[in-house]
Amino acid sequence: MATAATTTTRLRYEQIKPKIGAVIQSTKEELLSGELSDEINALLEERCVLIFPQLNLTDAEQVKFSDLLGGNAMEIRGEEVFKVSLDKKVNQSVAEYLLGSLYWHIDGTMNPIPIRASMLSAKVLAPEGGDTLFANTATAYEDLPEAKKAEIENLRVQHSLWNSALYHTPEPTDAQLDDWQSKGEADVPLVVKHKSGRKSLVLGNTAAHVIGKDYRESAQILHKLRNFATSEPYTYRHVWTVGDTVLWDNRTSMHRATPYDPDCGRMMHRTILKGGEAWDQ
Ligand code: OGA
Ligand code: MN
Repeated sequence: MATAATTTTRLRYEQIKPKIGAVIQSTKEELLSGELSDEINALLEERCVLIFPQLNLTDAEQVKFSDLLGGNAMEIRGEEVFKVSLDKKVNQSVAEYLLGSLYWHIDGTMNPIPIRASMLSAKVLAPEGGDTLFANTATAYEDLPEAKKAEIENLRVQHSLWNSALYHTPEPTDAQLDDWQSKGEADVPLVVKHKSGRKSLVLGNTAAHVIGKDYRESAQILHKLRNFATSEPYTYRHVWTVGDTVLWDNRTSMHRATPYDPDCGRMMHRTILKGGEAWDQ
């Protein structure tokens, strides 16, 4: 008679750098069993970016994995899986907005409840460029001098899609500007406090200006904090292999793609996870 197996699967992983990242070594079967979900979520909060090398998830498996980690939220335009491509033939209207992904950013800063985490799987690589960089804005915040923390503690920043669009299209047509500005603006704390007690910086290409500061001082604050948060100790560069999946905590990080030819066929499939906390607690 067979005895019931009572082995408990544990998540297997290795840290990448002291202040960011972990590579997960568990198999696809273990990850999709659901048994590791609590450990994965805890590790995501701790390490900010999790790399799952060559999982080769199908779209259905990626949706299932996202569901197991707390729920798959509908993507832009209501899809379960969003195709990240700069090619206008693939993405029509959204390709232009995705050009913002070439600069440091956070996904969905304009939503009162930001995306908790995003998951990206590589389907087709760019022949040149197209790596993805990640920065941990929680460990970077922790390492700021106390005087700087005190100075920025209660600052608020206006974020907008149109600010990010001006990074890649600095001389828009009237129609482009009107279209971007129709999406509005959002007022977000610069230092966000999480339920866990941790704090992180909300920065990136949607950050237009510090409310109540003049243009010059505002630029001093935003650009210098971004440069600090994206400096070597807090960043990780993912050089993709087809089939890799990467999961990042979108509330405590920024990310960007390195430049690549928009028409080269690069294709990533993205899902976004439910359960974000509001920027304002
Ligand atoms: C995203 C994104 C970066 C990349 O999907 O939100 O910014 O490397 N992607 O494609
Ligand atoms: Mn993004």
